[in-house]
Amino acid sequence: MYIMKLKYLYRANILLLTCCFAIAGCGDDNGNGKLPQEELSEEYYSGGLLGTTFNATTYAYEQPTPVVDASPEFLLGFKRGEASFEHEFTSNVDGVRRGLGPVSVRSSCITCHPAYGHGKQMEQYRSKDFGNGYLLVVTDANDNYVSQLTGMPQTQATYPYLPPIDESGIHIEWKNYTDVYGNVFPDGETYSLIYPEVSIDRSAINVPMPDFYKVRLEATIGIYGTGLIDAIPDDSILAQYHYEKSRGFTLNDAKYQPENFIKEVDGTSHPGRYTYGLSRGTLQNGPGANAIWNITNVTRSDRRYHYITTAYATAMSQNRDIQTKLGKSEQEIYDDLMSRDLPVEMSDKDYIDFMVWHRGLAVPAARNLNDPDVKKGKEKFYETGCTSCHRPSWTTGADDYAGDPMVKGKLPRYPNQKIWPYSDFLQHRLDMVNDIRTGWCRTTPLWGRGLSEKCTGASEHLHDMRARNYNEAILWHGGDAKFAKEKYRNLPKKDREALIKFLESI
Ligand code: HEC
Ligand code: HEC
Repeated sequence: MYIMKLKYLYRANILLLTCCFAIAGCGDDNGNGKLPQEELSEEYYSGGLLGTTFNATTYAYEQPTPVVDASPEFLLGFKRGEASFEHEFTSNVDGVRRGLGPVSVRSSCITCHPAYGHGKQMEQYRSKDFGNGYLLVVTDANDNYVSQLTGMPQTQATYPYLPPIDESGIHIEWKNYTDVYGNVFPDGETYSLIYPEVSIDRSAINVPMPDFYKVRLEATIGIYGTGLIDAIPDDSILAQYHYEKSRGFTLNDAKYQPENFIKEVDGTSHPGRYTYGLSRGTLQNGPGANAIWNITNVTRSDRRYHYITTAYATAMSQNRDIQTKLGKSEQEIYDDLMSRDLPVEMSDKDYIDFMVWHRGLAVPAARNLNDPDVKKGKEKFYETGCTSCHRPSWTTGADDYAGDPMVKGKLPRYPNQKIWPYSDFLQHRLDMVNDIRTGWCRTTPLWGRGLSEKCTGASEHLHDMRARNYNEAILWHGGDAKFAKEKYRNLPKKDREALIKFLESI
């Protein structure tokens, strides 16, 4: 709580700083409150003028955008929404943040998204371990999600239910990998690579399973700036797809057929832009808007049912021990679990505030861009072809955001902003051992990642956090990114280091 106060105190200073910034063109590379001498280039404003915070402390990922800061109403919603993200939900039947369960993936968002950043590399899967941002991805012989489990499988349950998966039966083993270059740069420097092998004991799964199933891990992506990403017009994303296609890149074409766009409750449909799987097209129906329901199983007025499978409801309702403990029949238990009109546990107001917070998160400004090494690193980043997928900048549109009528007209907007996410928001196949499901993975935005160690205490990379630093992340790039990796491998050591210094600065 004390820390929270400090955070808002700091925020007030930032507000002052940004005000003077507009007049004098000031700002500060280190976020230490000193007024800098020279005007900052547009690249410093990672989230544009309306979406950037100049806070570079351990709270850098948690700040509201200038749009939120300028509105007392947004600020109040933001603070209330923030609590829904930061605090635990409980299985209480009244009071705040009630309604967790009967099964859940975690009790709070922040457990998986420490300091609003990416999760950490983990030796084990425990839903209570802070920073364990892993989702289990359990698929069948055709790499389809196993239908007996939810897409995000749960390992927590409220008494007397059993969790679909008992996490003591989940095993993560980190294995060494030797690449085709024998883990040696042309200049003789060596490196090591590791990747996870995951299994779940059949006996630890409380629903019937197919004969074959395999398990992968998917780790969290940063949350800051996702409101700015929402403001990029669909047409710009489609134009990027056609542009890369014309350059001969191998892309996941099916995603760009209008009939495969993601349908929203307001009847519109949109190409995917969020998650590694590009499974979400708007923030209003995005990973966060869904997670507040399906991670916790907290119902709201438009979702008065559980995120649960029929296989699970059947298994639990037939369990004699559970029947006895609940004093209910098989049919009653099944009907309870599968009900479509459960009591509402999260109010509309709490949900709208949560979305104000979500769309209100700023991106930390870039730092140290005028440092000579960083400048050199930037040149190398462009020269080696990283920018063909890590597209540096985008311009947002009118930002008349689409999606859910419940929040329409109530959220902060970011029209006509030049933003610097360093992603094309398209999927590529980087061809790595034990790859992500289907092999298709969205290019992860690189903005703000340099502050990860400071904000979250860890700075691993890639969809399952297999890379322990930037260098390893680049060395795992294959497929259409192989040419860029090879150019990187052939750079002199000091240029490789400069390139990474640039990545740390954006
Ligand atoms: C089980 C851990 C877990 C919890 C808890 C969790 N997330 Fe996530 N989140 C993930 C993973 C894993 C991804 C990446 C998933 C993917 O690509 O399929 C992700 C992705 C996201 C993204 C997408 C960012 C992008 O650029 O695409 C947002 C936003 C997000 N989560 C918000 C939230 C919010 C808000 C909550 C709470 C309501 C939450 N998450 C709870 C694991 C979690
Ligand atoms: C063909 C497209 C492509 C090219 C070219 C490319 N990348 Fe990537 N990059 C990706 C994709 C896709 C991911 C996500 C992969 C994953 O998580 O499995 C990624 C992930 C990363 C990450 C990890 C992000 C994170 O936080 O998890 C870094 C760092 C990175 N790239 C840097 C670079 C650099 C530096 C270059 C140039 C040497 C480069 N990339 C070239 C597509 C590309």
